[in-house]
Amino acid sequence: MLKLPKRFLVTAALPYANGPLHIGHLAGAYLPADIYVRFLRLNGKEVLFVCGSDEHGAAITMKAAKEGKSPQEIIDKYHALFEDTFRKLGISFDIYHRTSSAIHHETSQEFFKTLWQKGEFIQKQSEQYYDEKFGQFLADRYIIGTCPKCQNEEAYGDQCERCGSSLSPLDLINPRSTLSGEKPILKSTTHWYLPLEKHEAWLREWINQGTINGVEQHEPEFWKDHVTGQCNSWLDSGLQPRAMTRDLDWGVDVPKEIPGHEGKKLYVWLDAPIGYISATKQWAKDNGKDWKKYWQDQDTGLLHFIGKDNIVFHCLIFPSILKAHGGYILPKNVPANQFMNLEGRKISTSKGWAVWAHEYLEDFPEMQDALRYVMIKNMPEQKDSEFTWKGFQELVNNELVNNLANFVQRVMVLINKYYKGKIPKFDEDTEIEAADQSGLPTFVDAELMELFDKVYEMNTCIWEYNFRGGLKWLMDISSWGNQILQANEPWKIEKEDPAKVKACMALCGQIVAALSVAMRPFLPFTSDKLRTMLNMPAFKDHRELVDMQNKLADGRLILKSGHQIGEPVHLFSRIPDEMIDIQIRKLATASAQSQATSKNHKPVKETIQFEDFSKMDIRTGTILEAAKVPNADKLLQLKVDIGFEERTIVSGISQHFNPEELIGRQVMVLVNLAPRKIKGIESNGMILMAENHEGALGMMSPPEGWANGSCIS
Ligand code: 2FM
Ligand code: ZN
Repeated sequence: MLKLPKRFLVTAALPYANGPLHIGHLAGAYLPADIYVRFLRLNGKEVLFVCGSDEHGAAITMKAAKEGKSPQEIIDKYHALFEDTFRKLGISFDIYHRTSSAIHHETSQEFFKTLWQKGEFIQKQSEQYYDEKFGQFLADRYIIGTCPKCQNEEAYGDQCERCGSSLSPLDLINPRSTLSGEKPILKSTTHWYLPLEKHEAWLREWINQGTINGVEQHEPEFWKDHVTGQCNSWLDSGLQPRAMTRDLDWGVDVPKEIPGHEGKKLYVWLDAPIGYISATKQWAKDNGKDWKKYWQDQDTGLLHFIGKDNIVFHCLIFPSILKAHGGYILPKNVPANQFMNLEGRKISTSKGWAVWAHEYLEDFPEMQDALRYVMIKNMPEQKDSEFTWKGFQELVNNELVNNLANFVQRVMVLINKYYKGKIPKFDEDTEIEAADQSGLPTFVDAELMELFDKVYEMNTCIWEYNFRGGLKWLMDISSWGNQILQANEPWKIEKEDPAKVKACMALCGQIVAALSVAMRPFLPFTSDKLRTMLNMPAFKDHRELVDMQNKLADGRLILKSGHQIGEPVHLFSRIPDEMIDIQIRKLATASAQSQATSKNHKPVKETIQFEDFSKMDIRTGTILEAAKVPNADKLLQLKVDIGFEERTIVSGISQHFNPEELIGRQVMVLVNLAPRKIKGIESNGMILMAENHEGALGMMSPPEGWANGSCIS
């Protein structure tokens, strides 16, 4: 069991405000952080949960350039979207802040100044890529070239997304600027570097032994292996000085007091984690609290919830910055998650391969907890995991509907039916059938102890950041409740053995009440609903779980006998195949659209079914006559032989073809298009054309000599 600090400060990675949140973000950082925070609150712990938008760096300026907008417009748009999405998903931040705020700029500048004054930086001159046409140094992401490892021609200056190698811009073969598309030149520039190699020794001890100079800081046995493993692999390959400034025009200014500050901004990975501190300051200011208690008191447990791509920044670089500054605590743990894949492929924003959180909320309103459930069930806690829409449907239908909602519904209905909604009093000596189907009867007291044990196991998992394990125990409580109902079949013996039915239903009432509390870290919306149904006081999110555990440990009831419950409402509904098919189609369409647009093609239209395509009747034909339509620049009137009849077709191709050159041409004709009157002429069909990137039209022709009226399919 973990040693617990007096208070907790929990952070979740600040998302870049340059695109919407997808399920990978949720499963990686925000849901695990929210589960843990809710759990701490339910255990009566003092906890502050901070997050905010990461609004600096090349990620923002590139998006702005791509959309022809200002960086400010981009961050405002996504910051608002994030706030809304997180709120709708029940991510219970105490503050959701932003790094464009004045308090953040001041805080990160103070950090920089202190480190500079303490001589913690070295200043170095180096040659960096510069785009002469745009008169600007190029951030790593602004340079594309061929990866030296896998020959991918689209590798970025910091990373190759195909082979995953970490790169530096100088590694790229044939580098080109994403601004001008031209080859950048090397130009000399000066920056401030944090000599990370100076921190290597204490970082190694701190990560692996949990001590600094032999003094205990954290419990390394509770750090995940993949986190420690990644840190050690960085440490083993030798830490290098890392530039803490950039030549950019968007970000936090290097403080004016520092000679040579002109035109320089703080490196985004210096300012972003300091965003946790500025968010705390803002929260403290708004709530009349002292922020220092959270950052400067050794009895605070600082926890960073992040995805695995952020490990080095939170476990090596930010701790080095905090230590170099002095006076700050270091994280107690960084329970990073790995990645969630989608339908067998890596989630990719640029490839349109993602499930966007805000779109899910539009398509499945009121089903926030279904998404939370499936995300937790598949949480990539130790290794990469997989989300599929079919899997989503199965988990919702089989586990949330058939197990959890079904148990709650049956108990609510039976208590309402048999006892007018009052929790029955049970006689402790009445035997009921045990859930384990051993055939041996049991007593309610023993079963309440079993309930205590299950809740205890769930809690132990959560304390150890094993949220999948915790969720399993939660669902085990519900399965067990269903088994108790099945073993006793109260609906069959109500008349002949009312005492046994009472005992059984009294126990099941306690189980439902326990579920309403135990599920809260995972399924907060459902816990609220259940609470209302049970007519229990609304959650204050303070001690409810620990109070319940204490009651169960003492053999006291959670719901007193005679407590009046309300009417049942459905907690979860089955997801039909059609809803899932729509999502699978949507994913395919988005992916095709993004592939096309990324290569300057027109976006692909929405996916259709084969039946939609087969409605079209396309045949070969020959143009017999062609003439300009009077008073219409673009229109030609054509007579086309389609084998079994001649058709009049009006076509908007006059600017591309002379009438004479068309006569005798074989074409493809959509023959079952509804007739339309154009300039008074009834058009009966459509000639198929190809349009190239310059907008030129080409006639689609069948192989030479084909009979008119041949079907195209
Ligand atoms: O990877 C990201 O999305 C970063 N914006 C995370 C920053 S976390 C923290 F340091 F702010
Ligand atoms: Zn590569």
